Amino acid sequence: MSEFEEKVRDALSNPQNQGEMNDADSVGTVGSPDCGDMLRMWLKFTEKDGQKVIDRASFQSFGCQTAIAVASMATELLKGKTAEEARNLSANELTGELGPLPPMKIHCGQLVEGALRSALDGSPADAPTQDLAPTLSS
Ligand code: FES
Ligand code: FES
Repeated sequence: MSEFEEKVRDALSNPQNQGEMNDADSVGTVGSPDCGDMLRMWLKFTEKDGQKVIDRASFQSFGCQTAIAVASMATELLKGKTAEEARNLSANELTGELGPLPPMKIHCGQLVEGALRSALDGSPADAPTQDLAPTLSS
């Protein structure tokens, strides 16, 4: 097992911030349930020192293990960031200690980055979005 695979395995043994957020301010989804690479991210903002910062982030993913590990890492790293700071994070930065991603796995990080951008562009969390439930529960 490569060092990267070990780090992913460790992250998956205790994934952080997994699951729907009921009181989120915004939500974003990327990917397609048809092929399984799909990720949804929720963001909750709070006011700190006169600035709007991310209080919490959570995600749901169907499919790839690496994307789950990166999303777990990213949702931790996002805490306390302004929307602007979050938007400036590259896929590589979002992978934190998991990175750098091997070439075959770079798109897993990009999936997380895409979900984050989609959430930052923000459909309100209560807006109807494509239903993930059938794929996630299977
Ligand atoms: Fe379709 Fe990955 S194979 S998004
Ligand atoms: Fe497609 Fe990881 S997101 S293999």
